[in-house]
Amino acid sequence: MNPIKHVAVIMDGNGRWGLKNKKSRNLGHKAGLKTVEMIIKESIKKKIKFLTLYAFSTENWKRPSSEKNFLFNLLETYLIEKLDELNRNNIKLKVIGRKIFSQKLNKLLNYAESKTKNNKTIQINLALNYGSKAEIVYALNRLKKTKGKITEIKVNQNLYTYKIPDPDMLIRTGNTSRLSNFLLWQLAYSEIFFEKKLWPDFNSNDYSKIINKFKKIKRNFGNI
Ligand code: IPE
Ligand code: IPE
Ligand code: MG
Repeated sequence: MNPIKHVAVIMDGNGRWGLKNKKSRNLGHKAGLKTVEMIIKESIKKKIKFLTLYAFSTENWKRPSSEKNFLFNLLETYLIEKLDELNRNNIKLKVIGRKIFSQKLNKLLNYAESKTKNNKTIQINLALNYGSKAEIVYALNRLKKTKGKITEIKVNQNLYTYKIPDPDMLIRTGNTSRLSNFLLWQLAYSEIFFEKKLWPDFNSNDYSKIINKFKKIKRNFGNI
């Protein structure tokens, strides 16, 4: 049975779900938040220590302002309403990606990170304005200023994910099989699960099924 420490998720399909069920992409994002709460709760039950959620990519800036503003407002409201609960449940929140949102949201994110920094049950990495290529370029620029040879360890130390173990598995919902600039370095040896269901439809049973499949995989890491 494979141990499982870190699950990464590309939460895709909110827009399509919203259009189909509520005639509004934005209401799909709102519905997707319930699945976020589900996966946090279930990951704690399964004793997973790191959960990384792709919430907004560096490419998502291309979307219309009305959708971006809705998403950022949703996040603001969530943080204001749920910070106490995150703390009660001993959840640590970390943002991966550059915080270049409104002053209010930037402050709120920093505040949530500092208020939860000593929590130990699970670490939620929220990938926000995250792009793997931007992250690698950021790491390389930092390394350029240091002496000596570049090594894998040094690259790891300069990524946003420093101190976070590589994901054991990646789940992408929404019936799309691509990585969309997510954790390209860190996913080098992760098991990848592409799920047909749209994110708001993804439930605890679907999650458990994937985890059980993962546990039975023979992970070779190049060996036999
Ligand atoms: C993913 O759902 C969530 C974000 C990118 C914020 P989408 O909004 O991409 O949903 P689809 O893929 O258009 O259905
Ligand atoms: C990936 O989904 C980003 C997030 C889930 C935040 P997208 O829906 O943006 O991916 P593409 O553009 O279809 O590849
Ligand atoms: Mg999408």
